[in-house]
Amino acid sequence: MKKIYVSAHYPGDSLERLRKKYDVLEFEGERLPNREELLEGSRGSSAVITTVSDSIDKEFIDLLPELEIVSNCGVGYENIDVGYATENGVMVTNTPDVLTETTADLAWALMISVARRVIEADAYVREGKFRNWHPSLLMGHNIHGKTLGVFGMGRIGTAVARRGKGFNMRVIYNSRSRNEEAEKETGASYADFPRLLEKSDFIIITSPLNEGTRGRFGTDEFRAMKPTSIIVNIGRGPIIKERELAAALRDGLIWGAGLDVYEKEPDVDPELLKLQNTLLLPHIGSASRETRESMFDMAVQSVERALEGKTPEHLVNPEVAGERN
Ligand code: DGY
Repeated sequence: MKKIYVSAHYPGDSLERLRKKYDVLEFEGERLPNREELLEGSRGSSAVITTVSDSIDKEFIDLLPELEIVSNCGVGYENIDVGYATENGVMVTNTPDVLTETTADLAWALMISVARRVIEADAYVREGKFRNWHPSLLMGHNIHGKTLGVFGMGRIGTAVARRGKGFNMRVIYNSRSRNEEAEKETGASYADFPRLLEKSDFIIITSPLNEGTRGRFGTDEFRAMKPTSIIVNIGRGPIIKERELAAALRDGLIWGAGLDVYEKEPDVDPELLKLQNTLLLPHIGSASRETRESMFDMAVQSVERALEGKTPEHLVNPEVAGERN
């Protein structure tokens, strides 16, 4: 019987489908396996369902000669050496689409919460500080009518931009290439990078991590932004130089930040932890129950198809499917 290793426990009952046909080993509990546990648990597997925190590198792939598919439960897959997987005939899949709207919702939650100082205001009440109302109590910034700058106009960027319409915002975006379909759908217009920095009241980073986006936002970029602006990152942590962001916030180069992802997760730069104008979340972009169930179901479907000799949907290295046919 083929073995399947699942590196995290997910909500829903999709795993039961696999259990009926395969020998399934699930890493249970509230945490993820460390490297040793991952290598040990997945030994002998034909399929693995992984998270973006599991490093699927050369060593991992070499240790699993039976491996047919790495089904990553997440849209990002920079944790996988896709080139090496392809060389070894291992399929790699991800879970796009199902998490788009949920992640866009969280981007907006961050944006609104930072602009209107929601978390700070909640603490103010809980700490018993609300004794008098005052006209200048906890003033923030308007969202409606402002300029929203989206960095990365893929699926999630488009969903973020679409929400801008409801707030009567002017939406501009910068992306590796123009996305005319998204422009039509959302009314957003393309801006080159310097213009995005200069004009945006809010910058929301939704792009994946690649050589073009790594370290894209640092001191020079913060200096080019409005001192009243807010930056939100729901893409990948290393797109922002965290230490430089902390300094920019401290020195008032920009007004606030909302982060869901970090340079060296799960570590957060201690300088950021000291700041009040920063809202920090533990990478929960797609963490609604419905979406996590859908993501996992999609990851399970990919494994089912692969082990039945079919081509899974959302294959990121279609060359491998070609070889199998
Ligand atoms: C993703 O889907 O890439 C999210 O960051 C969660 O892993």
